Amino acid sequence: MRGFNEYSYSFVYFSGHSYICDMKTDFLYIEISNQYAKLIRNEVLKPGDRLPSVRMLCKERRIGMNTAKRVFLELEGQSLIESRPQSGYFVSRLPSQRLPLPEVSRPQQAASRNEPEELIHKVYANMGKNDLTLFSMGVPSDELLPLAKLNKEMMRATRELQDSGTGYEQLQGNEKLRRMIAARSLLWGGSLHEDDLVTTAGGMNALSFCMMALAKPGDIIAMESPCFSGILQLAASLGLKVLELPTHPTTGIDMEAFKKAIPHINLCLLVPNFNTPLGSCMPDEHKKEVVELLSKHQIPLIEDDIYGDLYFGAQRPKCCKSFDKEGIVLWCSSISKTLAPGYRVGWVAPGKYKEQILKLKLVHAISSSSITQEAVASFLKSGRYENHLRKLRKILQSNYLNYIQTITEYFPPGTKTSRPQGGLALWVELDEKINTTALFDRAMKQKMSFGPGRMFTLQNQFENCMRLSLGLPWSEEIRQQLKLLGLLAASML
Ligand SMILES: Cc1ncc(COP(=O)(O)O)c(C=O)c1O
Repeated sequence: MRGFNEYSYSFVYFSGHSYICDMKTDFLYIEISNQYAKLIRNEVLKPGDRLPSVRMLCKERRIGMNTAKRVFLELEGQSLIESRPQSGYFVSRLPSQRLPLPEVSRPQQAASRNEPEELIHKVYANMGKNDLTLFSMGVPSDELLPLAKLNKEMMRATRELQDSGTGYEQLQGNEKLRRMIAARSLLWGGSLHEDDLVTTAGGMNALSFCMMALAKPGDIIAMESPCFSGILQLAASLGLKVLELPTHPTTGIDMEAFKKAIPHINLCLLVPNFNTPLGSCMPDEHKKEVVELLSKHQIPLIEDDIYGDLYFGAQRPKCCKSFDKEGIVLWCSSISKTLAPGYRVGWVAPGKYKEQILKLKLVHAISSSSITQEAVASFLKSGRYENHLRKLRKILQSNYLNYIQTITEYFPPGTKTSRPQGGLALWVELDEKINTTALFDRAMKQKMSFGPGRMFTLQNQFENCMRLSLGLPWSEEIRQQLKLLGLLAASML
C-alpha cells in the first residue's frame, strides 16, 4: 500500500497554498481538516495510511500546536481517522464511509396529524426493563453515568439547601443552576445571564411550556422529518398540525423547503444539533439563516438542544440561539441525555416569551424539584460535568464505530446508515421489503427492542427504517444481539 509520506502527504502540503497567516484559528483548523476529509473520502488517502505527526503538521502548514491538534480531533470526530497509542494518527480502517447514506427525507408537503400512537406505546412499554437489550432507549445506560459522584452531590444538596430542600423554591428555578447553565452558554456561542433562564422538569416539560405558550389548536408547526416521537405526540396533544420538512441525514432541514414553508407556518421546532433519530447537525450558516428568516416573519423558534454537548469532534456546535437578536428563539435543554434522565432537570431560555413561560410554570408545576437541581448545579460547578462529558463522548463515538462495523458485517445488502457526528442515535435504512414494525415484534421475541422508523413521523414513510441507541456499553453480548438483529432483518427479504 502506498504510504502517506510517499504520495498523499506532499499532495496535501503543496495544495495547501490557500493558507492565510492571519486567518482565525477556527476557520483554519476547519479548512485544513476539510482538505484531509476530502482526501480520505476520495480514497486518495487509504485506510491504514499514516498521517503526519502533530509536530510535522505544525511545521508544514505553519500553524500552532493547538490548531494542529484540533485538526486531528475534528477528523477523529468524523470517524475518518483513528489514533494508535505511541504511533500517531492513521486513516480509519472502518468501512463507515462506505455504507451508503440515506437520501434526504421527502415527506408530503401537507401538514398532518396521523399519530403512530399504538406503536409508540408498545416501544415505550419496555422502558426500565432489565431483561431486554434496549436499543430503543435514547439515553446513556446507567453504566455510563457517574452514579457515585451524583449520589454524593445529592447528599450534599440535602445538607446545604435551606430546610433540606423540602420547601418550594423561587418560580424561575435554582439560581446556582441557572448561573452554571448561563456560564456554559459561552461554549455554544451564547451569552446568557441567569435571569434569562427558567428551569423545568426535564426537556420535554420545557418543550411543552413553549408549545403551550406560543400555539393554539389548528396552528401549523414545522419540524424535521424524521423527528423525536415525543415532540410529534406533544404537538398532536395540543391540537397542532405538523409540517414535516425534508431533512438531510447530515445537515438537517432542507433550506429550500424551509423557505417555502415559512408563509404557511405559525411556529417552528428544530433539534439542530445531533437530533434524534438522524443525528444530523445543521451547519452554522443554516442556523443563522433560519433565525434571520424567522425573525423577519416574527415566527418563534423552539430550539431543542438536548444533544448539543455530545459532539464527537473538536468543538461543540453553535446553537440557533447564538444568532437570535430579537428574542424569538426559545432555547431548551436538559441533563437527561448526559447525566441523569431520572432527575428531571431541564430548562429554557425563552427570549421575549419569558413571562408567558413563567405563568405556565406556575399553573402547571408551582416549582421544580429543589434537591436534584441543587445536586446538578454543584456537579456542574465542580468541573466534574466536563470531565464526565469528555469520557461519555469518547464512549458514544466508539460505540458508533462498533455498531457500523457490526452492521456492515451482518445486516442485509442495501442497508444504509446515518453518519452522526454526535448524539445518541444511529438511523438505519433497510431494503424497502423489510417492515421494521414487523421486525420489532420478532426482535422482542429475542429480548431486544429498537425504535421502528414509523414512530418518528406522522406520515406513511420510514417503514423500512429503525433507530438504534448508541447509549449502551459495548460488549460481546451487544455485538451478538446486533448481529442477530441483522440476521432477523435479512430473514425478511
Ligand atoms: C429531541 C428530544 N427532546 C426532548 C427529549 C426529552 O428529554 P427529557 O427526558 O429531558 O424530558 C428527548 C428524549 O428522548 C429527545 O430525544
